[in-house]
Amino acid sequence: MTSKVVLITGASSGFGKACAEHLAGLGHRVYGTSRRARFEDEAAAPGGDATASRGSVRMLPMDVREDDSVARAVAFVQTDAGRLDVLVNNAGLALAGAVEDTTVDEARALFETNLFGVHRVCRAALPILRAQGAGLIINVSSLAGLVTVPFQGFYSASKYALESMTDALRMEVAPFGIRVVLIEPGDFKSGFTAARVFAAANNEGSPYAERCARAVGVMEDDEQNGADPAALATRLAEAIAATAPRVRYPVGARAQTLAVKLKPFLPTRVFDHALMRQYKV
Ligand SMILES: NC(=O)c1ccc[n+]([C@@H]2O[C@H](COP(=O)([O-])OP(=O)(O)OC[C@H]3O[C@@H](n4cnc5c(N)ncnc54)[C@H](OP(=O)(O)O)[C@@H]3O)[C@@H](O)[C@H]2O)c1
Repeated sequence: MTSKVVLITGASSGFGKACAEHLAGLGHRVYGTSRRARFEDEAAAPGGDATASRGSVRMLPMDVREDDSVARAVAFVQTDAGRLDVLVNNAGLALAGAVEDTTVDEARALFETNLFGVHRVCRAALPILRAQGAGLIINVSSLAGLVTVPFQGFYSASKYALESMTDALRMEVAPFGIRVVLIEPGDFKSGFTAARVFAAANNEGSPYAERCARAVGVMEDDEQNGADPAALATRLAEAIAATAPRVRYPVGARAQTLAVKLKPFLPTRVFDHALMRQYKV
């Protein structure tokens, strides 16, 4: 196997951490990012921590919501490794709450990470990949980007948007020798559950409060009883090793991947009804 230079956003926890460690174990040169990491020259500064390297994964600071932060981390990889073979856009989070209870600012903040964050990192990395005439971009989407989850509508919307942007990107960069892949996880046990943000209006005064609580309860149960992110790391490594990787890698429990397959064949109202039962709303 050829050793590749890999950059993974959001590698401090969950999928990103599991993938970074798995790929480093396979002999790839892996750079991971976290908002809490610091460049080594900043580690002694007030508020800095010494997480610039962890095991064989080199941790770099990056907040995908900030242009300068993204540009600096990508430039670091190019200077340090001399190239970038694989970019994994993994950083992301969930926002729960009824559509009516969610403010535009709350929805916009989610998109800033889940969609524009990916866009920002792609824009920083693509000049390097185009100059090389080769590269692989792996965007971590979700099965919730194919099937909408009630009371997590803006999370689903951010992942649907990511799916669409990624489809366009794939066609646009193909002539430059760059491949683009989507990983679509179902529910996995990670820091995702604890990091979930709730719309501020989702409180006992909301007419949606009880149903939202039940839906989020189902999501949390599914996540905390979900598979280990290590399973996803194996699929990601397969995509990296493949000479012709698939466009989409849905990875999840059979019932969840089956729902995605059935959706185009069922009337929308029937599918809605099944989802509402599933999420107890
Ligand atoms: N777990 C699931 O059930 C599930 C299902 C489908 C899809 N996904 C997707 O999988 C991806 C990874 O999620 P996970 O389950 O591994 O969650 P996680 O354990 O909470 O990890 C999220 C990672 O994203 C990073 N992050 C969050 N906001 C960031 C920002 N603004 N800039 C840079 N990094 C940021 C975090 O790093 P720091 O906080 O250290 O910066 C952390 O490393 C996400 O895109 C999520 O939507 C998860």
